Amino acid sequence: MRIHHVGVAVADLDAAIQLYTDLFGAELMHRASNEADGLAAAFLRAGGAEVELLSPLREDTPVGKFLAKRGPGLHHIAVAVHDIDKAMADARAAGLELIDAEPRIGLHGTRIAFIHPKSVGGVLTEFVET
Ligand code: CO
Repeated sequence: MRIHHVGVAVADLDAAIQLYTDLFGAELMHRASNEADGLAAAFLRAGGAEVELLSPLREDTPVGKFLAKRGPGLHHIAVAVHDIDKAMADARAAGLELIDAEPRIGLHGTRIAFIHPKSVGGVLTEFVET
């Protein structure tokens, strides 16, 4: 198992970037936003993994609802896989509930899919194809 990144929901993206770079020495790699998904994100390198800071552009989005309900905090962990189709088939065969029926292109520009937190001990978990 390799952790690709940890996703953290934040209310203030600039403040969160400053915290992670100043306090922990993470390196800001790039920022991206997707108007359709209502999401702004920043990707920071933290050793062999990344931190993905997620900030909603609107309240009626998955991360917007997450923030309203739970406040800022850990949103998901992402596991790197070589073959996402196989990883999804294996997860399905194991009885896990997938949120995404098919892989989609994530903010990293690679194929991703989410597993429902109720199938992973309460942790929203993402496959990232690398
Ligand atoms: Co992610």
